[in-house]
Amino acid sequence: MKNILIIGATGQIGSELTMLLRKRYGNSHVVAGYIHGAEPKGELAESGPSAVVDITDAPAIADAVRKYDIDTIYNLAALLSAVAEARPQLAWKIGVGGLYNVLEVAREHGCAVFTPSSIGSFGPDTPHDGTPQDTIQRPQTIYGVTKVTGELLSDYYARRFGVDTRSVRFPGLISYVAPPGGGTTDYAVDIFYSAVRGEEFRCPIAPGTFMDMMYMPDALRAAILIMEADPTRLVHRNSFNIASMSFDPEIIAAKIRELVPGFRMVYDVDPLRQSIAESWPNSLDDSCARAEWDWRPQYDLDAMARDMVEKLRVKLGVDQNSNIACHAC
Ligand code: SER
Repeated sequence: MKNILIIGATGQIGSELTMLLRKRYGNSHVVAGYIHGAEPKGELAESGPSAVVDITDAPAIADAVRKYDIDTIYNLAALLSAVAEARPQLAWKIGVGGLYNVLEVAREHGCAVFTPSSIGSFGPDTPHDGTPQDTIQRPQTIYGVTKVTGELLSDYYARRFGVDTRSVRFPGLISYVAPPGGGTTDYAVDIFYSAVRGEEFRCPIAPGTFMDMMYMPDALRAAILIMEADPTRLVHRNSFNIASMSFDPEIIAAKIRELVPGFRMVYDVDPLRQSIAESWPNSLDDSCARAEWDWRPQYDLDAMARDMVEKLRVKLGVDQNSNIACHAC
C-alpha cells in the first residue's frame, strides 16, 4: 500500500482508520474521500489530502485514483442494517452499485480493494454458535443481501480479473470517536454514552440476545493486517470471520455497572432491531483468520469497557467520581 483512498472517511470506521493509516503510511499518502454534507473536520481535515468521492459516481472515484496515484481503496460506504431496511433501494445502490464502481475502477487501475462484510451476512439458517467461516449465508435483511453479494462479487473480481480484493466480516463495532449510524449493534455504543452521562439507558435489544462485538482498535488492526497479509497464505479472501467478544445486554450492563456504580438500564425493545439481531450469529469462529494471517484480538469485554468509559469521560467532560458533567474542568 503506497497511496490509499478511503471512501467514507468521515464515518464511524473511516474517521479512525484514515488517521491510523496516515500514521503508518505518511499523511500525504492517505486520501480521505467524503460526500457533501459529511466533510472532514479538525485533524482529519488538516492532516492530509481529501477529495469528494461519492461511491455512486464512478468517474469521481476514477478521478481521485488517477490524481493521487492510488493503489489501494478502502471502501467503507454503506447504510447499516436498520436504516437500510427503511431505504432498501439506496442500500443496494450504495452497497452493490457502489462496490461495482469501485471494483471496475480497481480493475482498470490495478488497485487492491478492502470492503467490509459483516455478521449481517448470515441469517436465521446459519449455525448460531461458533459460526464457521464457510457456512450457510441466507440473510433476510437488505444489508445482509448487499454484504453477501459484495463477498461474491469481490471474489469474482479476484478470480476473473486478478483484482486483489480482501475483506473481514465485522462484528458490531464499539467506539467513542464517531458514532455509528443506524445499526442493530449500535446499542452497545449508546449504552456507554448513557452510563457515562449518568442517564438511564433504554435498551432496544432484549435480554438473552447475543451478538459478536469488537472494540474499534481491534477492527482497525484487522483492516490493516488483512491488506498487508502475505497473499500466498490466503485460502479465503472475501470475507474472513473475525471475533473478540460476544455478549447480551445483561452482560454488558453488568460490566458497565462495575465501572459506573448505579447505572440503570430498562428494556424498550425495538421489534425491527430485535428481529434482525435474532437472525444473526451469537458468536463467530475466527480460526481461518487466525491461521491464514495471524489475526488475534487485543481487547476482551473488560479491557474494552474500561477504555470506553475512561475515553468517554474525557470526551464528554464528566467527573469520574460524581459521573456528572463537570463544566469547570
Ligand atoms: N454494526 C452493523 C449493524 O448493526 C452490523 O455489521 O448494522
